[in-house]
Amino acid sequence: MTTADTAYLRMENVSKTFGRIQALSNVSLDVRLGEIHALMGENGAGKSTLMKILSGAYLPDPGSAIFIDRNRVSITGPQSAQTLGISIIYQELSLAPNLTVAENIYLGREIARNRFVSRSAMEAGAADILRRLNASFGPRDKVARLSIAERQLVEIARALNFKCRILVMDEPTTTLSERETERLFQLMRQLRSEGMAIVYISHRMSEVYELADRVSVLRDGAYVGTLDRPEIAPETVVRMMVGRDLGSFYKKAHSVGGGPGTVAVRVRDVGDGRRIHGCSFDVHHGEVLGIAGLVGAGRTELARLVYGADHRAGGTIELEGRALDIRTPLDAQKAGIAYLTEDRKQLGLFLDMSVSENLNLGVIEKDSKFGFLDRIMARRRSRKATAALNIKAASSDAAVGGLSGGNQQKVLLARLLETGPRFLILDEPTRGVDIGAKSEIYKLIDEVAKSGMAVAVISSELAEIVGICDRVIVMREGRVAGSLKGSEITQENIMAIATAA
Ligand SMILES: Nc1ncnc2c1ncn2[C@@H]1O[C@H](COP(=O)(O)OP(=O)(O)OP(=O)(O)O)[C@@H](O)[C@H]1O
Ligand SMILES: [Mg+2]
Repeated sequence: MTTADTAYLRMENVSKTFGRIQALSNVSLDVRLGEIHALMGENGAGKSTLMKILSGAYLPDPGSAIFIDRNRVSITGPQSAQTLGISIIYQELSLAPNLTVAENIYLGREIARNRFVSRSAMEAGAADILRRLNASFGPRDKVARLSIAERQLVEIARALNFKCRILVMDEPTTTLSERETERLFQLMRQLRSEGMAIVYISHRMSEVYELADRVSVLRDGAYVGTLDRPEIAPETVVRMMVGRDLGSFYKKAHSVGGGPGTVAVRVRDVGDGRRIHGCSFDVHHGEVLGIAGLVGAGRTELARLVYGADHRAGGTIELEGRALDIRTPLDAQKAGIAYLTEDRKQLGLFLDMSVSENLNLGVIEKDSKFGFLDRIMARRRSRKATAALNIKAASSDAAVGGLSGGNQQKVLLARLLETGPRFLILDEPTRGVDIGAKSEIYKLIDEVAKSGMAVAVISSELAEIVGICDRVIVMREGRVAGSLKGSEITQENIMAIATAA
């Protein structure tokens, strides 16, 4: 396997504790120039923490050592990481939106070099790099106007400008469309051939097989091993990640052979007068309805209209035969509709509040005795939910902001289920969630459907739609373009409708 001789970067015996949580214990990792090195592991395995140590965001515990080109280095902060040629692109991008592209590319550099960079020199330099990256925007554009994919490109440009040799990308594709993802991969291959060392974190197995030269796996904060290209196989990686074989992945115990129950939700002619037009669908009790389509086809917009998050221009929504007058999310919640947002950071969780507080937020009213939350009930509830979804946190009093990305997603889902909805809409429920938790979430969806709940799932992962749904509607350009059921639900059929092939 790996010899230290060929490694450009070597992290040795790296440990990190947060209070009582040992996020990393004696992890070692070798990364070579000119390779894409995938770093894999379940939610909370320690991937982001390891990379934050590399980029100077966290200091490692004593005893840890980092070598670059065989020299021991000490990374004391983001500046020192930058000087050593290390750049990281986080799950949440970190640009200043009201500055221009050029200003962002040069941000912090004047200080590092201790000299002033003139605006024209800056813009010329930025233009050079943007050309190299094939960017469709210019140095003077404001970052606020750019899409997520374009902002990522600015971050990469920034890294190149720092003469970065080690580029870390932490789940860069979770919010990209397929085409944007493909472009990013092209760029990564280009950078690899130019000799850059790229560390790539993703929960999407298919991406890893497509891109990675080597894969290293972490489990529970410990290093499990590294695979070379020929050894990389799905079963092997999964077994290393979860420490066992996963068995059958998609559960579909509900309504198998039984046929769906009565109609629970009837949506007719819903639109917003702009992007979404005349959308109709039913969801039966005990059924999982998939809402498929390309990114931008209007799936989330449709869900938001049904949920009252955006203004509906027309149409009707019925739940169990009752016409609902939904104008706000609160109306929807009161009627028994719950919506899991795809955007957990901005809309979903209160990051400063504890796991327990977040979990109980949805039910405070139900439990309040004389205006106070029943603490014992609250604790019992959060313990149950934490166990059911295998949420990893130091304690239920730990702040949600300190949880790993996938575990935050689980908290959000658990909280929704606590409200006991009759119609559950899940928007990208497994985004950023590891493979073990994925199968737990599928099991949960299956269970709530079996209990008679009506469930709608929006997902960009076709395998997921095919694996868990009883019926699928496919959206295209703001309309319901077709529907599929039973054995008609295949990836090919969905794509054919989604692209009007
Ligand atoms: N700032 C922090 N404060 C407290 N605990 C933390 C902090 N950052 C990380 N942790 C804990 O360290 C462990 C590893 O988290 P990390 O974010 O590195 O996981 P990850 O492998 O990146 O997971 P994911 O795939 O979900 O993003 C988790 O148990 C997490 O709760
Ligand atoms: Mg992470």
